[in-house]
Amino acid sequence: MKMYTRNLLAVLAITLLFTACASEKQLEEITQQSEEEETTNWEESTHPEEPVVALPGLPDDVAGYTQWLKLNAEPIPPQGGGDPHNGTKNVYVNQTRDTIAPNGTQQFPYPDGSIVVKDATRPGKDYIGLIAIMRKKAGTNPDHNDWEFTEYLRDAPDAEFSLKFQGRICWGCHAQVEDIDYVFTELE
Ligand code: HEC
Repeated sequence: MKMYTRNLLAVLAITLLFTACASEKQLEEITQQSEEEETTNWEESTHPEEPVVALPGLPDDVAGYTQWLKLNAEPIPPQGGGDPHNGTKNVYVNQTRDTIAPNGTQQFPYPDGSIVVKDATRPGKDYIGLIAIMRKKAGTNPDHNDWEFTEYLRDAPDAEFSLKFQGRICWGCHAQVEDIDYVFTELE
């Protein structure tokens, strides 16, 4: 009889142990699930209308640039006589107003890691055909405030952008505004 009780107790103990393990594992799964759900919801509620993907052919680090701080208040119209970036333009930067204009006045130079993106809709067209990018990367181009210049073009609304111009041709002209860190468009 004594032997029987001991066995029963042992079985009970094992069963309890197993149940405890199982429920602990379940709890873990539930926690993980709800963490995943929270992450998804957070992303959805931040940018509900616009998925953050780069336009085809553009580098990933400019994905979602239209949600960045826009430097110009009104679109910049095409300039007569050989506009280097012909079209109607907007200029964006991946910085906050507080960072680049503490106390309301824009400060120069731009911080390392800054990315300035200009998009242009060509005259008579209704899609973005030009993307010009200035990236500030410490050490890349010390003679020109460490800006890396690249320009991408496409000539159809569903076409991929391709890299067309970069480097000297760009900073040669942008050097005119060296005093405001090579960026013509100032924060409005
Ligand atoms: C002949 C002069 C000239 C050349 C060459 C030039 N740019 Fe510009 N760029 C401008 C001017 C002027 C603006 C101001 C906005 C506007 O009117 O388009 C500008 C604006 C920009 C902007 C928005 C920030 C700013 O400075 O206002 C970017 C980014 C840019 N250019 C990149 C480039 C790249 C990349 C190249 C080389 C492929 C290039 N630029 C060549 C004159 C030039």
